[in-house]
Amino acid sequence: MATAMAQPAQESREQWNHQAGFILAAIGSAVGLGNIWRFPGVAYSSGSGAFLIPYLIALLTAGIPILFLDYAIGHRFRAAPPLAFRRMAKWAEPLGWFQTGLLFVIGIYYAAVIAWAMSYFVFSFDLRWGDDPATFFVSEYLQVGDPVVSTTPVWGVLIPMALVWILMLVVLLLGVANGIGKLNMIFIPLLVVIFTALVIRALFLPGALDGLDAFFTPDWAALADPNVWIAAYAQIFFSLSIAFGIMITYASYQRRKANMTSSGLVVAFANSSFELLAGIGVFATLGFMAHQANTQVSELEGLTGPILSFVTFPKVIAEMPGGNIFGMLFFASLVLAGVTSLISIMQGVSASVQEKFSIDRIKAGLIVSILMGAVSLFLFSTTSGLIALDTVDMWSNNIGIVLSAIVMSILTIWIMRRGRELRIHLNAVSTFKVGPWWTVLVGILGPVVLGFMLVQRVITLITEGYEGYPGWYIGVFGWGTIAFVFIVSVVFTLIPWRRKEFSDAQFNAWPPVKENRS
Ligand code: PFF
Repeated sequence: MATAMAQPAQESREQWNHQAGFILAAIGSAVGLGNIWRFPGVAYSSGSGAFLIPYLIALLTAGIPILFLDYAIGHRFRAAPPLAFRRMAKWAEPLGWFQTGLLFVIGIYYAAVIAWAMSYFVFSFDLRWGDDPATFFVSEYLQVGDPVVSTTPVWGVLIPMALVWILMLVVLLLGVANGIGKLNMIFIPLLVVIFTALVIRALFLPGALDGLDAFFTPDWAALADPNVWIAAYAQIFFSLSIAFGIMITYASYQRRKANMTSSGLVVAFANSSFELLAGIGVFATLGFMAHQANTQVSELEGLTGPILSFVTFPKVIAEMPGGNIFGMLFFASLVLAGVTSLISIMQGVSASVQEKFSIDRIKAGLIVSILMGAVSLFLFSTTSGLIALDTVDMWSNNIGIVLSAIVMSILTIWIMRRGRELRIHLNAVSTFKVGPWWTVLVGILGPVVLGFMLVQRVITLITEGYEGYPGWYIGVFGWGTIAFVFIVSVVFTLIPWRRKEFSDAQFNAWPPVKENRS
């Protein structure tokens, strides 16, 4: 029973072709570089097998509930974050732009990592990195300089990065169903096949079982360390792509009668399964590495982040029979996982711009890809790329996203008081029903745990700095990132909406929630 007023916006909205299109796209967004290069190392350094406990608790108490919150907002208010929040309360629009700003920042460095993986896919043919992959990665490939802003281009990065941006542009222009839907329909099954082959190969390497032993043997004492819990919550947020506005955007293209919570459970389960699979593959491989070096996995270094993928793995690959193929499979997985996440980021930004300025998908796609591509190439294809990337990543994920999740939960549940309405909405369309516990998790537990996490992080970053980088650098690329996102929130909110019905923020596309339906 849509009211006449909401009709124009409704009619022209893009839609997924089918439920599977949405689910695959949401999995594509969730399964990304974070699963392959972040999870195994974080789990290992945070209690190994014992980490699964905080990880599962974080998934159940914050991950899935906030994923449902994102879905409910997107599906009920049928818009990208700025308009979705505005439809809940006019003054809430800046939160939407805050999330969009974060996406902008993450997108521009995420593309660089995909570009590195593309280069390394090619380098795998002849194991180009030789016997010293660390020096090769930092000095020969990236040509890292001091942490200063440099304008010297690194062609080996710039060319694949340009290709990534062209791909993003093409997929965005093709639209939600024909571009993003189809891309995920091909890339996700391909990723699963390639990655499974890789893990099976890894399990047959000598020493693989010792690697698994290191990965799974629980260190129970770690559970008493608050940092381990912080790491678990941070991992879940980044990994599920929640509180970034992505899932709001994707859910807004769902049909009206779409089973939201059940899809959410499928997405969360698939993401965590992939994460676990990556842990098994990575640690089986590291077991082999330790075996070759006649040492223990615990003695190895460089087990997380870019160093794991671009230094440690190349080293193992070079020692392995059939290493070229293993290398190609590994870097192809990174590219596939990365591209399906990056496209979700791009759609989030593009949809926000499309709605605000009332321009069509093609124009918004062109503007956003060209702008983000240009900034991304300028900042990250130069000799200062690695350090800038590392700093921006730290601040956007550990401060930006946590702040966004806290503010979103508190505003939605406590200030705008939309908790009950959103819960009833979810239950009206879904088979898996959410009880009042959901409001408690989103409105109380989430903000408390996340608030604690945020304060801890801010204190550590202020008192200890980061990686010994100079203060001015941390100011510009670290805190500057957060300041930039704040400025985006204010400036874009101040720009007037082109369409009157958006500016009025009246939105009555759904029947009002009934008291007796929950
Ligand atoms: N979830 C992705 C990963 O695990 O790598 C990363 C990501 C994608 C984060 C999209 C945020 C986002 F909006």
